[in-house]
Amino acid sequence: MILKILISTIAKLKLLAAGIDDIAIYIPKLFVDARDFAKARGMDPDKLQRGLGVSKMAIVDTNQDPACMAANACLRIMERNKIAPKDVGRLYVATESSLDESKAMNSYVIGMLEQVYGNDSFGHCGGIECKFACVSGSYALYDNTNWIRAGEAEGKSAIVVVSDIAKYDLGSSGEYTQGAGAVAMLLNDNPRLMTFDPKVTSTSIKNEYDFYRPFGKETPIVNGQYSNLLYMIQVKKALMAYKDKALSTGIIKLKEGETILDYIDFVNMHLPYSNMGKKALTYLLRHEWRSLPRWKGIIEKMGMQEPVPKDPRGTIESILADEEFMQKDHEFTKRFTMTDEFQEAYDSKLSSSLIASSMVGNLYTASLYMGFRSCMEFEFQKGVDLEGKRFGFGSYGSGSSAMVFSGVIMPAYKEIVKNMNLEAEIGDRRKVSLEEYEQIHESKLSPTQNILEGKKEFVLVGVGSSPELRGQRKYVFKE
Ligand code: COA
Repeated sequence: MILKILISTIAKLKLLAAGIDDIAIYIPKLFVDARDFAKARGMDPDKLQRGLGVSKMAIVDTNQDPACMAANACLRIMERNKIAPKDVGRLYVATESSLDESKAMNSYVIGMLEQVYGNDSFGHCGGIECKFACVSGSYALYDNTNWIRAGEAEGKSAIVVVSDIAKYDLGSSGEYTQGAGAVAMLLNDNPRLMTFDPKVTSTSIKNEYDFYRPFGKETPIVNGQYSNLLYMIQVKKALMAYKDKALSTGIIKLKEGETILDYIDFVNMHLPYSNMGKKALTYLLRHEWRSLPRWKGIIEKMGMQEPVPKDPRGTIESILADEEFMQKDHEFTKRFTMTDEFQEAYDSKLSSSLIASSMVGNLYTASLYMGFRSCMEFEFQKGVDLEGKRFGFGSYGSGSSAMVFSGVIMPAYKEIVKNMNLEAEIGDRRKVSLEEYEQIHESKLSPTQNILEGKKEFVLVGVGSSPELRGQRKYVFKE
């Protein structure tokens, strides 16, 4: 039914269908174990594992950077689908781990892929590097989807690759939400995995300093609690705009007492750490359910009224500084997440998307799409038939902007999802000691002092330092 409505809406709008045909990941094979980390920093390991949902944080070896992770993910998706460079019209890279103020990361990725596919094999292909913290991958997907919808692709595919190293200062509260990895998505006009709903993508934007990384600084300046709340407010704003569009295009029809979230089968949220997904779902459900008849019964069961800040129209700072409200709100959230109603929504819509995040940590731009990948694999393993199911995406980038959009799973999805195996795709991993981790983190080792030998992948072998070659990066493909 959902699929039929989508297909007739696309036809009515005289657009081509467009969406994700396949998705590939690349995760570096070194990781920091959350328990070792907690011990070394004198923290309770439960704070990381239960409080934040962090078990392992993927970290890059000395000979890896965001460009080679991106190229590795692209190569995987091209080889698996037997895609030749001539079939690719656009290759976009979205990242907040940029390597150069001017030269786009795409060019490095193209350079690496041409080592495999031949010099100038991508000469016809266009693309840019996109930046807006963690949301830029969603803008890249949207722009490339529209390139296809408009008929500009002329049968070619687009590849959007999101790649990042989430790195925070040693000893900071962000340090336990690190990670690294890339996700490549193949887009076309006959996608096997998901077709995006047209005319519903919604955004919000505001000049903010919740998380930013000034030129020359390797790690961000973060106001974590402020950023968490801002993320939820911005996504909520975008969700409200999405709701208006979904109702006006007719892709979703609400009956009395229903919310738009009742019609989103799976919710995929940006995941700076796994439990942020739960926090965001809680916030959105509270917002959506508050005005519905079902809320009365939930409040009765919880035995507590929803708290209101002293200044309900105050700023994020004033809300966070309102200690009495924050305490009550924490208690209210705890009770709410224990209700059957919340648990049902959490288990059925969100939980599977959080599994990968706890295995690899924060991937910034790639986190949302790793979550999508995780959701498909683990729901399928549970025996859930995903065909015709609607996925909603809550994308957030600090600074700040949010994007909410949705898509519907296509009948051919099984071809792809039945072969998904996160553990196998990540490959054998090596745990690093805290000493090794800190050496890598503080850039004490050169690219050639790598811990692991790469296999069938691109690695960084050097960065020019002489005045005329400064910053030039050399990569090779390791057979
Ligand atoms: N056992 C179990 N849970 C525990 C615990 C323990 N011993 N100690 C704390 N916790 C829980 C807290 O209750 C809290 O849960 P809640 O969010 O449900 O209330 C959670 O662990 C986090 O603890 P808290 O003290 O709030 O965290 P923090 O001050 O260490 O900061 C972040 C957490 C996420 C804000 C911080 O790691 C950060 O800033 N990370 C970077 C995030 C980022 O990049 N954001 C940018 C864009 S989205």
